[in-house]
Amino acid sequence: MTTTKRTKKTKPDRRLASDEHMNARFDFDAVFRAKPVILAPMEDVTDAVFRHICRACGASLCVTEFALAEALVAEESEALQKIRLAPDDTPTAIQIYGADASSLAQAARIAEQAGPAYIDVNCGCWVPKVARAGAGAGWLRSPDAMVAMARMVVSSSALPVTVKTRIGWGDESDMPIVDLARRLEDVGVRALTIHCRTARMGHEGAADWSWAARVQAAVSVPVIVNGDIRTAQDCQKALDLTGCAGVMIGRRAIEHPWIFREARARLEHAKKPTAPTLHERVDLCTRHLLALQAARGTRKALTAASRFYAGYLGKQPDTAPYIAELRASRNLETALEVLHSLTTQQPYAEQTMRDLERTTRLERSPFGEEEY
Ligand SMILES: Cc1cc2nc3c(=O)[nH]c(=O)nc-3n(C[C@H](O)[C@H](O)[C@H](O)COP(=O)(O)O)c2cc1C
Repeated sequence: MTTTKRTKKTKPDRRLASDEHMNARFDFDAVFRAKPVILAPMEDVTDAVFRHICRACGASLCVTEFALAEALVAEESEALQKIRLAPDDTPTAIQIYGADASSLAQAARIAEQAGPAYIDVNCGCWVPKVARAGAGAGWLRSPDAMVAMARMVVSSSALPVTVKTRIGWGDESDMPIVDLARRLEDVGVRALTIHCRTARMGHEGAADWSWAARVQAAVSVPVIVNGDIRTAQDCQKALDLTGCAGVMIGRRAIEHPWIFREARARLEHAKKPTAPTLHERVDLCTRHLLALQAARGTRKALTAASRFYAGYLGKQPDTAPYIAELRASRNLETALEVLHSLTTQQPYAEQTMRDLERTTRLERSPFGEEEY
């Protein structure tokens, strides 16, 4: 995860939401009673375009990438853009971060104007530039300050406030999360997302879901379990093992946004969706690229899309040259041609057949979802 660059203040567009946003109808308790499968906040990933895609693939709820409190307070256009929500971007929560409680409280009030479902405070970002400055997971080093900050944000916000955090700062700590969760609940935090790693671990090592179980057992507010959930079966397992109210999916969604429909089907005991065919993959990739271009212009779209190609197009050996070509594309037409050729050229027609055969095989396998 890279850190947010502070940009020069440009002409601010403070119109964050038109009229009453659809999120105003968000029923917090009802959504968390329904075991939501949530798209994790991810910087440079969970923009409006990707939220739209994941929602279409079945995500129950989305969270924006984090926006720096001070940048929102200073009306920096890039930060305001991160929290701007289209009327159909619902339900979506806005995530804010920062090291200063009163800036976070002010930022929460600004974010409210965008009409989110709720405000989430990031207390889990491990990136040194963020955490060492006291923001993100830096709050875990001072649980008292973190609780006081949460109290301040809750009391200044008209919307529900939630916190996303980790199980502790590092190996030497005594894992403050269970006690901390109780105290956060006491000051009015309405839900907690637990990324089941310490800050020290970054994204390394296995997430330990048992901490989410301990937290959910200690508090009455919904707890969302996060970390290493990669399949529909993982979603089921994480919910069964922890008793948590919901699951949150990050990196797997980048590779495979279809995880949301697969997870929903599994949790709702519905028929397992077939694995996406190559045509479906190419189609989604094309639509993602075109939507990025409409939102950000060609150059930025091509850069942003390059993160998704490998996931969408499968990690099959014979797609590698196409993915390389896509990444090297300097204009939209070339990228679209490469995508189109994936479905028309001989090896990829065969690939599609293999996809279909694999789908059939998986349907016979009791552990089918594990494989895609
Ligand atoms: C590229 C990237 C960007 C991220 N940005 C954020 C962020 O802005 N806010 C946040 O709370 N977590 C952020 N995270 C952490 C994820 O939300 C999530 O907690 C983490 O990836 C573990 O979940 P996973 O195993 O499902 O990926 C980011 C992770 C990645 C990989």
